[in-house]
Amino acid sequence: MVVVLNAALSSQDLPTPLAGLLADALKTQDLALKAGRSLYLHRPAGLRAPRLVFTVAADGSAKAYRHALSAAMPALKHSAARHLAVTLPPQASWSCAHAHALVSALEEAVYVYRHTKPSAPPAPAVSKVSLLVGKDGLKAVQHDLAQARAIGLGVAVAREWANRPGNHCTPTHLADEARRLGQAHGLKVEVLDRKAVEKLGMGAFLAVAQGSEQPLRFIVMRYDGGRRGEPPHVLVGKGITFDTGGISIKPAAEMDEMKFDMSGAASVLGTMRALAELKPRVNVVGLIPACENMPDGRSVKPGDVVTSLSGQTIEILNTDAEGRLILCDALTYAERFKPASVVDIATLTGACVIALGHHHSGLFTADDALAEALQTAGREALDTCWRMPLDEEYDEALKSNFADMANVGGRAGGAITAAMFLRRFAGKYRWAHLDIAGTAWKSGAAKGATGRPVALLTRYLLNQAR
Ligand code: BES
Ligand code: MN
Ligand code: ZN
Repeated sequence: MVVVLNAALSSQDLPTPLAGLLADALKTQDLALKAGRSLYLHRPAGLRAPRLVFTVAADGSAKAYRHALSAAMPALKHSAARHLAVTLPPQASWSCAHAHALVSALEEAVYVYRHTKPSAPPAPAVSKVSLLVGKDGLKAVQHDLAQARAIGLGVAVAREWANRPGNHCTPTHLADEARRLGQAHGLKVEVLDRKAVEKLGMGAFLAVAQGSEQPLRFIVMRYDGGRRGEPPHVLVGKGITFDTGGISIKPAAEMDEMKFDMSGAASVLGTMRALAELKPRVNVVGLIPACENMPDGRSVKPGDVVTSLSGQTIEILNTDAEGRLILCDALTYAERFKPASVVDIATLTGACVIALGHHHSGLFTADDALAEALQTAGREALDTCWRMPLDEEYDEALKSNFADMANVGGRAGGAITAAMFLRRFAGKYRWAHLDIAGTAWKSGAAKGATGRPVALLTRYLLNQAR
């Protein structure tokens, strides 16, 4: 059993025997009512549950709830507990964000990567969670939890694929997974190969892919839950399965982390998986340009000029600014769907990590209503984004003497000039760009993908449904 407390609580607010157990723990100073503290009790006297964790939240908010639950997880992770009974923080009023908090804290704790590490420890035994609530609003709670659970499935897909190393997650693997998801869950999937992409004229995408031995893939997925002919919402995910930087090669330190450079693509796969589960009345198209960015005798070189699908020419001054080159052609391709909105998701710039760190994804859009919708979805799903500027003034940085634009604009405002580059290709529909370079994975000892922003995207699309 997990009992979430908060600082404002006194032990009399709990029923027996919990009140007594808490009073004792406070008296012996084994627990303090400070946010982040927790205490594990084995076979607590008078309680039927064989294990009890007290964990302290800062307040009744969903964010504090998730923190408190995450603090409780290590103790339970390595226990034999199969069934968790969890309370809400005192004074909390239920929201769908609380559902996301509970489900995501748990999924975070039970996920084990094993694709290339079969010796990884077995997954925790927990297979069932109950939320202890009064009868009021029970239906809403059940509905929100079921939704959060489905989104959790999508998050797991995104996490798993982003975690797989570059040699186990090639463009071909991504396309195969898209097809597999399509077959298993009733999504339409079409995959274009190099020949088809050449025929279309995606010169920018082709330029990035040309240095790699791995064949490129352009993946088109459809979830049709809305009326026939209803304009779809389009998601475009950056699918660089490994980013060496190309001829503008990256330094060796932490280059391994560039296997996560397809996290945007993984979030599209994950969101489509969640939609297939939730079946909202909305039409959604997922587009994934997938390739490697490699240095080679055939690689694109700094100074090369290529012609994008839009017809605009691009001087590639830095081959490491490759994400925008594959996305710009996908954004032009998106026009054919006459979309209700287009959101691209990309681990696009190191500059975004400097600007926002690892908590909020960067949100760039000129459309206030779309910004509001995405920010709201982020707050509801505890997968937040922060709006960044996108003023005309920044566009100047992309001037080139040899093409319609350069692919980089210098160090200043690097996340913004990258977004300005994309904006030149996204003129014909409502568009937003999410830079997830800081949020898609964790570095250091906990190195691994987070599955973000599947929760934000799915929430956004659910909110668009009839
Ligand atoms: N995939 C990287 C962005 C990135 C860097 C994500 C570090 C996460 C951590 C992207 O392709 C890239 O290399 N961007 C360059 C752009 C620059 C050349 C204008 C960058 O951010 O340095
Ligand atoms: Mn790069
Ligand atoms: Zn990249």
